[in-house]
Amino acid sequence: MKVLIIDDQNAILESLSMFFSEKGHEVLTAEYGKEGLEKARSEQPDIVILDIRLPDINGIEVLKTIRSINDQIFVLMITAFHDMETTIEAMKYGAYDYIHKPINIDELNASVNKVSEALTLKNNLSIYINDQKIQYKLDTIIGKTKPIQQIFKLIGLTCNNKATVLIQGESGTGKELIAKAIHYNGIMRDEPLVSVNCSALVETLLESELFGHEKGAFTNALYAKKGKFELARNGTIFLDEISELPFETQAKILRFLQEKEFERVGGEKTIKSDTRIIAATNKNLIKMVRDGTFREDLFFRLKVITITVPPLRERKSDIPLLVDFFLHKISKELHKKPRQISTRALDKIVQYQWPGNVRELENVLMRAVVLSVEEVIMEEHISIISEVEVENHPTLEETHFKSLEELEKEHITKALLRVGGQKGNACELLKISRPTLRKKIQKYDIRA
Ligand SMILES: Nc1ncnc2c1ncn2[C@@H]1O[C@H](COP(=O)(O)OP(=O)(O)OP(=O)(O)O)[C@@H](O)[C@H]1O
Ligand SMILES: [Mg+2]
Repeated sequence: MKVLIIDDQNAILESLSMFFSEKGHEVLTAEYGKEGLEKARSEQPDIVILDIRLPDINGIEVLKTIRSINDQIFVLMITAFHDMETTIEAMKYGAYDYIHKPINIDELNASVNKVSEALTLKNNLSIYINDQKIQYKLDTIIGKTKPIQQIFKLIGLTCNNKATVLIQGESGTGKELIAKAIHYNGIMRDEPLVSVNCSALVETLLESELFGHEKGAFTNALYAKKGKFELARNGTIFLDEISELPFETQAKILRFLQEKEFERVGGEKTIKSDTRIIAATNKNLIKMVRDGTFREDLFFRLKVITITVPPLRERKSDIPLLVDFFLHKISKELHKKPRQISTRALDKIVQYQWPGNVRELENVLMRAVVLSVEEVIMEEHISIISEVEVENHPTLEETHFKSLEELEKEHITKALLRVGGQKGNACELLKISRPTLRKKIQKYDIRA
């Protein structure tokens, strides 16, 4: 293959040239963006390895120009940035892949080999080139671990087409955030993004919510009403908790995916629509298909592109970044000075398993910012009592069945606490006589 390397660091140029020459590739080099573009034009390389930071032209610009010269050239970006925007930008403008500095030669080589394979298979990726300049402010997705970087890539690759996307992941991992990123990074960003929580409504209401209804379709349908599909127009409909869709409604969604059309409830007119569907679930749909509670045909239609968000405990090295991000965000929201975090507090956070994932982390940090009067968050400000964990684990009451006496003791104590220790009032509350109360206090050894 013909490989063009554009990088202003001589050491990198030399070592990469040597490496790829030895692998039998024809290697060209350029130190400047301008020079690189000339060579790309005259030499038509198969692959360009491009540093995003160049002395004369921004690497993204170089990427765009190369792709407009010839969109069959594979461009591999080298970047020192971990942030989502650069990555999404690069992928959006047609970068084939990107590698972080310091360069891991095996990773780079693997990526070049992939190109080589793709070329021999004549299986080139054609990626939509978007030259709109508008930049939208996004809800930032934080993360530098491989799986999150992979998700940035998928967002870049899916945002400008209408392929159906299925986002899977535990509760609180950021599924909705990803759906938004896909919508707002795409060309349809000025069209609506409409969300529907499929578990929130009973079946009949859900159908009318999704597809609308005609006047008189059912009792109480006094007026005709547009459904979410109509409201989403050319934009995106986000079907959250898709696993909760009743079986009947699943068939209607399937039909929409196949025919791009539907009718309002009680309506005869067929409505055409070009809405894109993004679905999310925290359930295992494959298992549901096996159990017969989710339609297999719908499952296959939905998962054209699947994005699987790993739980936070499987990407712990993102935790410090997230903590930093949330502490800034929360302090700002609460009009407080930015908070620092002690090493021990951070250790405690990193060690925890986060069953409620990023949402739980955000909540715990919110509490910590409120609780910390000083500007440093200490270990004691991190109160980790996971709601999810409490839900999933048997409560004390389940493991230990209380005796009547235990309950009586608890109840008397509660009564005394409520009335501030006034025995007379406690008797009234408990509807017992004073001598009885005295006896019980003695028996259970209840202290003031
Ligand atoms: N990588 C991330 N970077 C920054 N914020 C994040 C990230 N992931 C999640 N969040 C934040 O965590 C919260 C939960 O995210 P989101 O609502 O997208 O999760 P979800 O997967 O849809 O959860 P659920 O299944 O419970 O609906 C949001 O406030 C979101 O902004
Ligand atoms: Mg959600």
